[in-house]
Amino acid sequence: MEYRLLGRSGVKVSELCLGTLTFGWKVDEAHAHEILDAFTGNGGNFLDTANVYNGGKSEEIVGSWLKGREREEVVVATKVRFRTAEHQNAVGLSRKHIISSVNESLERLQTDYIDLLQVHAWDPLTPVEETLRTLNDLVRSGKVRYIGASNFRAWQLASFIEYSRHHDLEEFISLQPQYNLLTRATEYELVPYCRRERIGILPWSPLKAGILSGRYTREMGEPPEGSRLRRRFERGMRWPWNDEGEYVWRVVDLLKSMSGSIGKTPSQIALNWLLRNPAVTAPIIGVSSGEQLSEDLGSTGWKLSDQQMRELDDASTIFVTYPYDRDTDNQQVRGRESN
Ligand SMILES: NC(=O)c1ccc[n+]([C@@H]2O[C@H](COP(=O)([O-])OP(=O)(O)OC[C@H]3O[C@@H](n4cnc5c(N)ncnc54)[C@H](OP(=O)(O)O)[C@@H]3O)[C@@H](O)[C@H]2O)c1
Repeated sequence: MEYRLLGRSGVKVSELCLGTLTFGWKVDEAHAHEILDAFTGNGGNFLDTANVYNGGKSEEIVGSWLKGREREEVVVATKVRFRTAEHQNAVGLSRKHIISSVNESLERLQTDYIDLLQVHAWDPLTPVEETLRTLNDLVRSGKVRYIGASNFRAWQLASFIEYSRHHDLEEFISLQPQYNLLTRATEYELVPYCRRERIGILPWSPLKAGILSGRYTREMGEPPEGSRLRRRFERGMRWPWNDEGEYVWRVVDLLKSMSGSIGKTPSQIALNWLLRNPAVTAPIIGVSSGEQLSEDLGSTGWKLSDQQMRELDDASTIFVTYPYDRDTDNQQVRGRESN
């Protein structure tokens, strides 16, 4: 496992972050602790959770694991923004909600500080100033070490960065967007902006709910029982067994044929494609078993060749519209200086 500086900060994180969305849902506490032990045993030091994952159970499970361990050895990221209770103020990025949510997260995590507090999404109601001054106070108080954002559009991120800079407040050092071989619109604005500002990108859903592992096929017609996609399918989302499917299956077919020729699995190739992007600090892997974790850890320690990167870029390329088609070349859109 290699370590990278998180954005402009001096804190070092492992090149893979372990996501904990499945903890307290698909993965019980004992099993989650085994996964956390295996991840850290292989050099991982970076964990991602959120105040709302499984009603707080994910944070609780991370907290019970942290207890008795050397707290300084891990970098714990969590989030605030989404609804935690029914009342009027149990949501958003107001001073009131951020402070109560952080206090609750600290209790569940059984720690006295959060390494990276991420605002989970934009809040159209709260002024940027109120949110940033609250986050700044939390850093000053020692409850939070660094701040980041998630699911922002580039102009939203820029408005926070500019405000911090002009008022000498803490700046976001990371962005957590969805980013994977099937979600490349992230490259239009977010990737070039984050590179310019040295904001570390932490891609969520790096395997697109498991599709990029190659375990789903067009012939299945629907996702099998117990899989992540099944839940969505039952709520009416037919993707990728619908008109959009051809793009998906083209990318999956390439991952499978490349897997046959280079001896790495489709998941490992899809993760390595992200790891090779200099804008990316650490993809956030999500797993529901120790076997999946071992396989995903095998995405590190080797590199796709330039030719393989080009093939993956070409198969997954998306329609580039104005003004992005005005770039002198496509490299800026892809967020890379070269493949
Ligand atoms: N900021 C946000 O809004 C946001 C949103 C979502 C997630 N996240 C963060 O990002 C993390 C990862 O997101 P995600 O869980 O959606 O990631 P993902 O990469 O889209 O999906 C993970 C799923 O892929 C399958 N999988 C993983 N490795 C596999 C392998 N080697 N072989 C076969 N299948 C494999 C598993 O599905 P099965 O469980 O079906 O086996 C696993 O649960 C989360 O834990 C969370 O920390 C953040």
